[in-house]
Amino acid sequence: TEIDIDAEDLDLGGYPHYMAKEIQEQPESVERIIRGRLDDRFGVARLDGLNLTPRELRGFARVKILGCGSAYYVGQIGATMIEELARIPSDAEAASEFRYRNPIIEADTLYIAVSQSGETIDTAFAVEEIKRKGGRVVGLVNVVGSTIARACEGGVYLHAGPEIAVASTKALTNMAVGFALIALALGRVRDLSNADGQRIIDAVRALPGQIKAILDFEPEIAEHAKTVAAAKSLFFVGRVRGYPVAREGAQKFKEISYRHAEAYQTSELKHGPLALIDESLPTVAVVPSDELTERNLAAVQQIKARGGAVLAVTHADVDFGELEVPRIIVPKTEPELDPILLTIPLQLLAYHAALTLGYDIDKPRNLAKSVTVE
Ligand code: AGP
Repeated sequence: TEIDIDAEDLDLGGYPHYMAKEIQEQPESVERIIRGRLDDRFGVARLDGLNLTPRELRGFARVKILGCGSAYYVGQIGATMIEELARIPSDAEAASEFRYRNPIIEADTLYIAVSQSGETIDTAFAVEEIKRKGGRVVGLVNVVGSTIARACEGGVYLHAGPEIAVASTKALTNMAVGFALIALALGRVRDLSNADGQRIIDAVRALPGQIKAILDFEPEIAEHAKTVAAAKSLFFVGRVRGYPVAREGAQKFKEISYRHAEAYQTSELKHGPLALIDESLPTVAVVPSDELTERNLAAVQQIKARGGAVLAVTHADVDFGELEVPRIIVPKTEPELDPILLTIPLQLLAYHAALTLGYDIDKPRNLAKSVTVE
């Protein structure tokens, strides 16, 4: 008997789209970035590729993360992790802006360039600008031997494997995990204790299993996607750790479903955007179980009071009380690592919304996998 399989079917491994395949690959791709890098004895991550001695790691007074698009949003997740775990002032900036504004480069700042392809021209130029001005720049890059990986003085490879879909998923997740490892390395030469380091290591090790558990909820998330895909416009909101999650969720949604999706800090709603809320504008709210839960719930209540529908991405122990809010439940990890898991259902939400709307998921209009020309 003849079996009719073409090359693309083999590459897709039976999945209808590369994006679906890459989302499902995440438990294994996260395994790959952590393999051999967790040191239980000292509660630290072993990142020899950074080419930084403990004394050099100790000497940085600031961290500046540079990337474009989703890599920039994950950079914001990374900056928060580094601030929380290593207590070093950290921030992320779009490399596309940084390179054009004559940035001040400081000798005691650690610059981190983050890129899946390693070929994004804005990020590559930012790296050159930093080097020209004598700054120390390391990479968090997926493609081995790429332009940015070669230009950096050290780095951490993501080992996410090839990513074909324009909408990035598994590479972004590995970037977030990579930042957790860098935060450990920077934290453990400062005030992060061995026990706290170990707490993070144990949590990192549990991530692949937890991601698998989220992926098992795909059918439920697909149902939520059908509802949100019906709206012309959406809000994605989160605060502090949850804000870059909301930004990335909105980005993914825009890229493939062509719906207007706007991200706000939940705390900023009352300063303006709340005026737009009505029955026609649903909100996807990131509501983790943490020190800000009550404030997030108060914001959800304000949205509901104005007739707005809310879909919450949340943890099982968050008590919504009287509020009737459909929920996507994500497993709890250590609070500092929550953004890694909170992002995963938003990939599936965007994917299924685009599927419902019948768009070209792997090659959305107007977009290229990597922007290598001006
Ligand atoms: C992600 O879904 C996007 N397609 C896009 O924002 C991307 O993250 C950005 O262009 C950066 O690409 P890079 O990681 O290859 O540098």
